[in-house]
Amino acid sequence: MQSSNTFGNAFSFVTFGESHGAYIGVVLDGIKPNIPINTEAIQHDLNRRKPGQSSVTTPRNEPDSAQIVSGIYNGKTTGTPICILIKNQDQRSKDYGDIAEILRPGHASHTYLQKYGVFDYRGGGRASGRETALRVAAGGIAKQILAERGARIIGFTRQVGDVRSEISTDAVDAKSIESNIVRAPDAASAEKMIAVIHAAQADGDSVGGVVEVVVKGCPAGLGEPIYHKLDADLAHALMTLGAIKGFEIGNGFESVLLRGSENNDPYFQDEHGNFRTTTNKAGGVIGGISNGEDIVVRIAVKPASSITKPVQTANRAGEMVDFKVEGRHDPCICPRVVPVAEAMVALVLLDHVLLQERIAVSSTAEQLQQKLATIDAEMQLLAMQKKLYEEELTALGA
Ligand SMILES: Cc1cc2nc3c(=O)[nH]c(=O)nc-3n(C[C@H](O)[C@H](O)[C@H](O)COP(=O)(O)O)c2cc1C
Repeated sequence: MQSSNTFGNAFSFVTFGESHGAYIGVVLDGIKPNIPINTEAIQHDLNRRKPGQSSVTTPRNEPDSAQIVSGIYNGKTTGTPICILIKNQDQRSKDYGDIAEILRPGHASHTYLQKYGVFDYRGGGRASGRETALRVAAGGIAKQILAERGARIIGFTRQVGDVRSEISTDAVDAKSIESNIVRAPDAASAEKMIAVIHAAQADGDSVGGVVEVVVKGCPAGLGEPIYHKLDADLAHALMTLGAIKGFEIGNGFESVLLRGSENNDPYFQDEHGNFRTTTNKAGGVIGGISNGEDIVVRIAVKPASSITKPVQTANRAGEMVDFKVEGRHDPCICPRVVPVAEAMVALVLLDHVLLQERIAVSSTAEQLQQKLATIDAEMQLLAMQKKLYEEELTALGA
């Protein structure tokens, strides 16, 4: 059985590291050679996730600088494993010393202990949101490969507490989202959301919300029925993130309030001869396969478990104790979940694009050019390899 630290089918990545270890890292394998990669774009996404960004995120100060250790040379992939390391710099493990013996409500310490009998409790160890920086780094590569194929991924905070932005998914744009600290799609909702977060923070508490991700320009035909349906894989990928308690696609849970006549998306043929739907209640996936409309998914993000408000809980000796968190934490994690959710969606889509390319029946001119470029790059690598072997053989005097 594949270890559960590894993700992907047509390509894969494995992450390693804990919140308070020396480094965290990711290794991606199966990315084709000769693909241009903009490392600044990866760092840009890491900066959107990193702590200490604003008054609504934890003040832990981590620069989250990505060190690309292998697999990218002169701005292009080499076809070999890509390793990215991030150094942990602002560990304050003493902040966590008192909690070693306490079962923190809403945290993974008790369940990890049940499973492994040992747990690096500092900062949440492996269960910490810190691990998600690596998914953002891997997703940064996936996003760039998808952008080459015309797909663009936009995430934002749809709701915080009971404040919900009613802006239509079609109207959201990345610039407005990034212009406010909560990553709401419109300024008026952002202001109200920030007030809700600050009010919870003032009470030593936290608040949850809904993060939405939209994929524009997703090609039709992605998804592997039955057990790797695109929507099933998206749900799985997003539910692997800490604090995610619900998933929906398109109309999701609201569709139960509609009749079939209201919920079905009727088809029409556009000026290019493509079949489209007049509405998008399905959120871009039918029968587990993308239909070419925007993919729209939403996840429920629980209020962060670490709060400074005192609670009663048990310690490992079974005694009831008063407990209050002293470390540094997010009063609402939605703004930091946004780039992580985008990354997970990108990684799922890239996997499905690569799976689809294995069975594709017909290709566009652009796709054929891309395939030829990949074959050229692979042939160059093989020729280099052949030359090295020949030289080795000559050196052996054979
Ligand atoms: C980007 C990100 C940041 C997070 N930051 C925090 C945090 O500051 N405080 C906290 O209590 N939980 C945080 N979490 C959530 C915990 O990791 C998670 O709630 C915990 O491991 C228990 O898992 P569960 O909520 O999925 O059951 C974060 C999660 C993510 C994805």
